[in-house]
Amino acid sequence: MMSLLLAIALSCVFVTSQVAAEESEVVSYAGFQVWKIKPNSGEERQFILDIKDSYELELWNERRMTRDPIDFIIPPQSQTKLKSKLAERKISYVVVISDLQTAIDNQKTNINKTTSDSKAAYNMDWISYHRLNNIYAFLTYLNTTYPKLVQLINIGSSYEKRPLYVIRISNSSSPGTRPAIWIDGGIHAREWISPAVATYIIQQLVEVPANAKLLSNVDWYIMPVVNPDGYEFTHTTNRMWRKTRSVSSTSSCRGVDPNRNFGFKWGGLGASTNPCQDTYRGTKAFSEPETLATSNFIKGKSSQIKLYLTLHSYGQYALIPYGYDVVYPPDYNDLLALANNAASKFVKYTYTVGNSADLLYAASGGSDDWAKSIGIKYSYTFELPDRGTNAFTLPASEILPVCQDFFPALDVFATKVATCCGAFTTTTTKPLTTRTTRPTTTTKRTTTKCPCTCG
Ligand code: ARG
Ligand code: ZN
Repeated sequence: MMSLLLAIALSCVFVTSQVAAEESEVVSYAGFQVWKIKPNSGEERQFILDIKDSYELELWNERRMTRDPIDFIIPPQSQTKLKSKLAERKISYVVVISDLQTAIDNQKTNINKTTSDSKAAYNMDWISYHRLNNIYAFLTYLNTTYPKLVQLINIGSSYEKRPLYVIRISNSSSPGTRPAIWIDGGIHAREWISPAVATYIIQQLVEVPANAKLLSNVDWYIMPVVNPDGYEFTHTTNRMWRKTRSVSSTSSCRGVDPNRNFGFKWGGLGASTNPCQDTYRGTKAFSEPETLATSNFIKGKSSQIKLYLTLHSYGQYALIPYGYDVVYPPDYNDLLALANNAASKFVKYTYTVGNSADLLYAASGGSDDWAKSIGIKYSYTFELPDRGTNAFTLPASEILPVCQDFFPALDVFATKVATCCGAFTTTTTKPLTTRTTRPTTTTKRTTTKCPCTCG
């Protein structure tokens, strides 16, 4: 008995000291490279994926198609061996990032620079990436400055007790009654362009009079940082952190992938049971306070919210549910038409539009699938730029171009949601389809006719 207690006590010490070590040491990516490896056959693809397992490489952008290039992050000690392995099989690759730490350092150059030179009343801009305190101060500023237009809503706390904020933007005399659009960012910590675009959208909707038409019939709920603990951790300790920061009871590895933690088809394909993996699903659906609070808030507004949009990076994709497997919802063509229309607005960065599991890979427990499953008709994941040249270390000089290119698409969404038939929740007599081919336009859909009474 004594020895058992001792063993438990010792293991606790071990775990906490490991965590402490992980907390205090800044992770360096000096010498790490990002390689884009291009298989020419299914065989080559398998060979590459086998190498990945034997070298425990981290893969950044898996895609289903045989000849799609795959981005890998390669630690310095594996580079020579890997080079010759690929040469043996005549598999071509390009080094897209020759030193990841340099890319990280470059990206941070004008972080939190002072705004003494800027006319804005807040310490926020879209020419640098910002720490959470700056983002939250910006939201607070808008809340006090535009009380008629803006409401800052604290929807709960993160694992490390940071507040979780949603900002509601509405010019309605009775806000909360009109059709609404939800946008979130920062589900994945390292995808810094996502909160940057979300905050840009907020700024444009609140402060730019020319955008008032976007508010005329639609309320907006925007949550720029769903995973604040992870986001801060990428600033302080490990730039490539993706997950939340919750502690596991069975492993010294921390964090759950929030986008594998939502409660629809939780625990299915593409979600790991291993707490040390980047796609760890957690112990149960909504085990994380961040996904629980977010989903509870959205559920509470689900009769209002007609469109769910979640911002990720990278790849330049507009992804349509479902993502848990190659399954198309009965109204897939409606979602596709709207996404294509939105994507047609993009000038500088083009996006590929299609079903999530088909274009990328099956991944269950995603927020988009869950939103669709609770009856939000239009549900999308946008993978923001780029396509892998800079990957997660997109230079700060590209923030504004990405934001400006993206913003006009919101007009398409707002128009759809504001019009009666977009706002009206269509009902279908067809059960959730399990077909694996996408419905063609000739498929007879059984949506009820819109009675045009909403709005
Ligand atoms: N890159 C995103 C992820 O892996 C894609 C999510 C797409 N949606 C989905 N339900 N699989 O989380
Ligand atoms: Zn992501």
